[in-house]
Amino acid sequence: MKVICEFSEKHIEQLHVLYQGEWWTRGRSLEDTKKCVLGSQLCIGIASENDDLIGFVRVLTDFTFKALIFDVIVAQSERGKGLGNKMLSLVKNHEHLKSVRHFELYCFPEMLSFYEKHGFSANVGEIKLMRLANA
Ligand SMILES: CC(C)(COP(=O)(O)OP(=O)(O)OC[C@H]1O[C@@H](n2cnc3c(N)ncnc32)[C@H](O)[C@@H]1OP(=O)(O)O)[C@@H](O)C(=O)NCCC(=O)NCCS
Repeated sequence: MKVICEFSEKHIEQLHVLYQGEWWTRGRSLEDTKKCVLGSQLCIGIASENDDLIGFVRVLTDFTFKALIFDVIVAQSERGKGLGNKMLSLVKNHEHLKSVRHFELYCFPEMLSFYEKHGFSANVGEIKLMRLANA
């Protein structure tokens, strides 16, 4: 098992497959998956001994104030083995994110305990997530 930051065509195809397994990423095209990896400041993957992508997380960041974490996904067959914890630790301890002020993410309530174990808090006062649907 190894940590990867460079994604081959095969890894991106495997990320596309991982995306089809989750409700919020299902339906993303391979082309958009490629654009998403290229357009994210940090992508971290976990690859198996056979170099298959079994875990993924990406971060959009200004490297100073904010680091927004997206698409935390572990392949179904590999869940419960510590990879989710490992990926979050890799993000939090990434050398380029050392001085970032806030790590942020959004998630459903059932995931709160997972992120709370990593120091995240849903106690953000009156702040609301807002969205304008576009393309
Ligand atoms: C959430 C996910 C990334 C966790 O990865 P994982 O490799 O199975 O997690 P780990 O084995 O490292 O376990 C991490 C901890 O979170 C807990 N946990 C795992 N999945 C959880 C879930 N769905 N809800 C709440 N807690 C969870 C584990 O019990 C473990 O607790 P511990 O550290 O006290 O033992 C993985 O289940 C996944 O890919 N789920 C589908 C995608 C998803 O929902 N991503 C999060 C979007 S917000």
